[in-house]
Amino acid sequence: MADRMADKKEGVTGFFQKATVRVGSLLAVVLILFAVGRAFAVPDSFGEYGRYRGNNLQENADKEVSFTKGNEVCRDCHNTVFQALTGEYHNSLNCESCHGPAAAHVAAIGAETDETAKPVEIEETVELCSACHAETAGRSKEVIATVQPVKHSGGIDCIRCHNPHQPRTGLGGMRQ
Ligand code: HEC
Ligand code: HEC
Ligand code: HEC
Ligand code: HEC
Repeated sequence: MADRMADKKEGVTGFFQKATVRVGSLLAVVLILFAVGRAFAVPDSFGEYGRYRGNNLQENADKEVSFTKGNEVCRDCHNTVFQALTGEYHNSLNCESCHGPAAAHVAAIGAETDETAKPVEIEETVELCSACHAETAGRSKEVIATVQPVKHSGGIDCIRCHNPHQPRTGLGGMRQ
């Protein structure tokens, strides 16, 4: 009777011991897989400065600069346009907000002619001007003068009447 009880006790203990070993090894395998997986997945520079990839800073710093430092850069060679722009309604605008990134253009002057270094050609002024001046539900007329392009001018090129650099000068007739 006492023997049988001891057997049973040992049986139960044995069962738990085996189960513990099994669960323990499974846990150990999972932990090892996690550690190995993590080592592969986490970039080397993670944590260098904080909880992000340290190399990210260098990668962004290495990017090629495509915009210049501002309108003064253009002034050296396009003084007439610079003065025109500065003297009128568009004086708060950056040349590159209409002409696109021009760092390559500036860098290429003096060097051999490089077609790709020209500022982007503005093909569609209805599109360009409407990006800022088209009447929309969310655009306040107190902040910027708006028009309904088609109603305003029948959808013809805005620069047929407006000088893009001095949009209010000489209004009243078609330009050349
Ligand atoms: C070092 C002198 C120089 C600087 C600085 C310069 N440009 Fe120019 N730019 C030129 C010359 C020269 C031309 C004429 C090139 C040609 O017709 O091929 C030109 C042409 C242009 C044109 C007309 C392109 C065309 O297709 O006819 C635009 C627009 C222009 N520049 C915009 C800018 C802007 C915007 C800046 C400032 C970010 C700037 N430029 C800075 C010398 C300069
Ligand atoms: C509101 C948009 C806008 C702004 C801001 C702007 N331009 Fe223009 N620019 C135009 C358009 C439109 C044309 C005519 C179409 C074309 O030549 O691409 C033009 C033409 C030019 C031309 C060639 C013809 C000419 O008038 O000599 C030059 C050079 C030029 N811009 C330089 C500049 C410079 C430099 C600045 C900043 C000081 C500037 N632009 C700012 C829209 C703009
Ligand atoms: C990047 C935004 C932007 C673009 C693109 C732009 N403008 Fe403007 N424009 C302005 C701002 C800002 C003002 C000054 C605030 C105002 O008067 O509405 C202005 C003013 C004007 C005015 C004077 C409005 C008044 O109060 O009497 C006219 C006209 C005008 N722009 C026409 C044009 C034309 C034509 C084009 C395209 C060649 C153009 N704009 C492109 C931002 C822009
Ligand atoms: C046929 C000539 C013509 C064309 C093309 C034209 N405009 Fe105008 N625009 C004018 C005249 C003239 C005025 C001045 C009206 C006034 O003062 O009452 C004006 C005024 C404006 C104003 C000032 C509105 C205000 O409330 O003060 C803006 C902004 C404007 N135009 C933008 C544009 C845009 C954007 C385009 C292209 C989609 C364009 N214009 C095409 C002739 C034209």
